[in-house]
Amino acid sequence: MSCLSTVVITGASSGFGKAFAYRVAESMRQHARAQKTRFILIARSEDKLKALADDLMGQYGCEVQVQPCDLADSHARAALLQELAGVQSEWMLLINNAGLGDYGEFSSSEPERNRRMIEVNMTALVEITRAMLPAMQKARRAFIINVASLAADLAIPDFAMYAASKAFVCSFSEALRIELANSHIHVTAVCPGPSHTGFGDVARRTGKSKKEVPFRKWFYTSVECVVDSAYEAVLLNRPRCYPSFKIRLVGLFVRNAPLWMLRCIMSFRPRKAIPAE
Ligand SMILES: NC(=O)c1ccc[n+]([C@@H]2O[C@H](COP(=O)([O-])OP(=O)(O)OC[C@H]3O[C@@H](n4cnc5c(N)ncnc54)[C@H](OP(=O)(O)O)[C@@H]3O)[C@@H](O)[C@H]2O)c1
Repeated sequence: MSCLSTVVITGASSGFGKAFAYRVAESMRQHARAQKTRFILIARSEDKLKALADDLMGQYGCEVQVQPCDLADSHARAALLQELAGVQSEWMLLINNAGLGDYGEFSSSEPERNRRMIEVNMTALVEITRAMLPAMQKARRAFIINVASLAADLAIPDFAMYAASKAFVCSFSEALRIELANSHIHVTAVCPGPSHTGFGDVARRTGKSKKEVPFRKWFYTSVECVVDSAYEAVLLNRPRCYPSFKIRLVGLFVRNAPLWMLRCIMSFRPRKAIPAE
C-alpha cells in the first residue's frame, strides 16, 4: 500500500483524534498535498469514523481508510498491526492518541477497566509504533505524536493508573526519540491539561457527579490549541509539548518542585466523594 503521505490516527472518532484529522488535512490542503494523502482512522466507533471519513474525503479530497478496532483486544490488535506494518509512504505521521482514564480511588477500581487502560494507553501505543517503525525508517520523513498528559509528570491520587500510564508514554517517547536522533523521524510527547472532549464522561465512574472531576474551568485548554500546538511541535522536532501557556507553567513547576512538596500538595487534594446529582 503506497501513497505520498500517510497519516495514522488512533482514537480518531472523537476529541483530539478527530480534531487532529481536520488539522492535518487542512495543512495538507495548504501544501497542495491533500489529494495525495491517505488517512487511516482507528477507533471502535465505526459509524463515527465513517462520518469523519466522508467529511474528510468531501472537504479535502483525501483518501481515507476506516479501521475499526478495539485496541484493548489483543486479537483485534494483531490484525491491525499486520495491516499497519504493510503501509509505505514517503511522508508518514503516526498519532498515538487513543486513551482513557478512570476517576476514583484505586482500591475501588474495576480490574477489567484497569486492564483496558493499560492495553489502550500503553500496549497498543508501543505495538503500533513498533509495527510502523520499519516503514517510517524507509520513508523520507516521519513523525510520531504520542498523546500523554500533564498527569504524566505527577503521581495523582484518584487518577493513579491513568497518571502512571501517561508517565510511561512520556518516558517511552523520550527514549525512542534519542534512539532515533540520527534518523529523519521526529518523536514528540504531548502533555495536555484538561480539555472538553469525551474524556471526562468516559473516565467518570457510574453514579458519580460531574462535580467530582477536580478541575477548575480556567484550567481547561481548547481542543484546537492542543492539536495546533502538538502538530507544530512535531514538525519542529520538539521533544515535549505542553499546549497553552498556563499548562506550560504548571508543567514547569511540577517538574522542578521537590518530591516532598508535591507529595504534600497532592495529599491535600479534595478526595471526598460527591454524591450523584
Ligand atoms: N481531554 C482531556 O482532558 C485530556 C487531557 C490530557 C490527555 N488526554 C489524552 O488525549 C487522548 C484523547 O482523548 P480525548 O480527550 O480526545 O478523549 P475522547 O474524546 O474520549 O477520545 C478518546 C478516543 O480514544 C478512542 N478509544 C478509547 N478506547 C478505545 C479502544 N479500546 N479501542 C480503540 N479506540 C479507543 C475513542 O474511540 P472509541 O470510543 O470510538 O473507541 C476516542 O476516539 C487520550 O490519550 C487522553 O488520555 C486527554
